[in-house]
Amino acid sequence: MHVKKAVIPAAGLGTRFLPATKAQPKEMLPLLDTPIIQYVIQEAIDAGIEDILIITGRGKRAIEDHFDRSIELETLLHKANKLDLLEMVRNVSNLADIHFIRQKEPLGLGHAISCAQKHVGDEPFAVLLGDEIFASSPPCIKQLIEESERLDGGQASVIGCMEVSREEIGRYGAIKGDRLGPQLYRIEDMVEKPRPEVAPSCLAIIGRYVLHPSIFDLLQVVKPGAGGEIQLTDALRELAKKRPVYSLRPHGTRHDVGELPGYLEATVSLALERPDLAGQFRDFLRTKLAIAENAPHRATQKLRP
Ligand code: G1P
Repeated sequence: MHVKKAVIPAAGLGTRFLPATKAQPKEMLPLLDTPIIQYVIQEAIDAGIEDILIITGRGKRAIEDHFDRSIELETLLHKANKLDLLEMVRNVSNLADIHFIRQKEPLGLGHAISCAQKHVGDEPFAVLLGDEIFASSPPCIKQLIEESERLDGGQASVIGCMEVSREEIGRYGAIKGDRLGPQLYRIEDMVEKPRPEVAPSCLAIIGRYVLHPSIFDLLQVVKPGAGGEIQLTDALRELAKKRPVYSLRPHGTRHDVGELPGYLEATVSLALERPDLAGQFRDFLRTKLAIAENAPHRATQKLRP
């Protein structure tokens, strides 16, 4: 069955990015000149998704405004004959069929996904977490969709994963899997935010999933888990007892843009790929690095205001 719908949870408070996120959604922080969530939506569109549901919460109005028409801005750009900008602004509001629903209380990722039940209905769907972006071809979620369509008559749940160090695994959901191929596992168990010493492996869940709709019934009954929140991982663990759940280590580079180091890496990588920025920016980086290597004291002094 073709996966047509995607859910993007974007209700989190963004505390890892304060103070920038005090009065604006973390999903609207720019990577170069485009908000993070637009990259995530583009990934879904590039994977053939036609319908996107964004789960928002309090203080997330800017996301809705961003994907809506802005008649005043369009009129202004038209009058000023800035037709390239006008086309770009219009394209953003025509990207896909985008819907919004509010999670009324911040009860966790699992609860946010359960808010999508009515909209998704009885078909497999994709989930893309709004604070991770991927540089890959084909798009990360497409790689998962292709596996899902290949396995179990096109009904398989497939979760993205990556290898991390034992110190890091406590920040993720951890998977215990039976290896089926170089990149593919069948999940036997999973734990959300395990203590590193008891983690079942160093395979961490990443923010890309293709889920069977029966996850919704399990999300209704699962008890609060790690952090006192309704965890998607706990419902997936129950799902894996009823039907096969797979995990795929996708090709490509993941950036956790919900935190400064990943955000910086993504910014630099994207700038180096943009033809209108790359040349000058590469020269700037070379100079900075040369100064830092030859005279580290001078480089740090220079960086301070
Ligand atoms: C969520 C999931 C976790 C996963 C992580 C990936 O956690 O619950 O299983 O490993 O995303 O980024 P969060 O980062 O929202 O705490």
